[in-house]
Amino acid sequence: MENNKRPESMQRINTPELANAFIDEQVAAIRAQVGSKKVLLALSGGVDSSVCAALLIKAIGKQLVCVHVNHGLLRKGEPEQVVEVFRHQMDANLIYVDAVDRFLDKLVDVTDPEQKRKIIGKEFIEVFAEEASKQDGIEFLAQGTIYPDILESQGVKAHHNVGGLPPELNFELVEPVKFLYKDEVRVVGKALGLPDGMVYRQPFPGPGLGVRCVGAITRDRLEAVRESDAILREEFAAAGLEGKVWQYFTIVPDFRSTGIRDGKRCWDWSVVIRAVNSIDATSASIEEVPYAVLNKIVNRILAEVSGVNRVLYDLSPKPVATIEWE
Ligand code: XMP
Repeated sequence: MENNKRPESMQRINTPELANAFIDEQVAAIRAQVGSKKVLLALSGGVDSSVCAALLIKAIGKQLVCVHVNHGLLRKGEPEQVVEVFRHQMDANLIYVDAVDRFLDKLVDVTDPEQKRKIIGKEFIEVFAEEASKQDGIEFLAQGTIYPDILESQGVKAHHNVGGLPPELNFELVEPVKFLYKDEVRVVGKALGLPDGMVYRQPFPGPGLGVRCVGAITRDRLEAVRESDAILREEFAAAGLEGKVWQYFTIVPDFRSTGIRDGKRCWDWSVVIRAVNSIDATSASIEEVPYAVLNKIVNRILAEVSGVNRVLYDLSPKPVATIEWE
């Protein structure tokens, strides 16, 4: 990448007018760079790749080929939302790859967190490269790189980035949001008409629910993570906490405890709730969630999520505890 410094003259994009001006500028720049050629993009449904996709769709329509890989570790409703927004609402050229079994089969009995991350990252690249090889005439690869990624390319994000693309995908890069900070990406995403649920999403790790299903991933505990996370998000939204709390999710550790259900002893999993505030993820404090909200979440999880008989609240700040459990 030749030019990786944000121009000093570039204004902070914090209004819809500035976002529209940025969009017009980038649409022209993308058209000038790409001409009538085809562009490939790995679309996770996260803010950065979604905004990047929406800009390219505006600029070149179906010359953009979006690939959404469902690795089975996404939150409830996310793959469906990507299909709904991009294929149905934006009429994009979207390839949806159901790779759930492929990923989960590779992860059987793998307990080491870094090994899990490596397998998920490697498999993602393989699936994406396979899809790329099925396409004719691709000459460009679009990436939702944002300015903090460039600034921190030696730091945590680079270490964590399981979505990095293979060098053998030797295409010229298109990176329309590479000089934007996260808040600017959101303003642009809003101006492009992306739904709030996509634009204001909380941070979500590349390996997804895989690092919240502690130890070796099993399908029953993975479903318990997904279902309990959906309940937590629903209740946080209903209580007006969405957008106020920096990151909130559930974890299912790989231990069981006793319980009693319908008069019979059970031996089930626990769900841990984590809700933290942070500025840049290097430290985090605990959100004081009202007891009534927690109580409702606990009751719903115990009633609705199968195989779970206990709900815990993680009160540990970072440091010493990291935000994720793995
Ligand atoms: P920790 O757990 O290190 O997390 O306190 C700090 C922030 O990074 C996110 N995180 C990841 N993001 N791939 C990612 O893209 C990863 O492997 C990964 N691990 C942690 C975490 O959700 C938090 O926002």
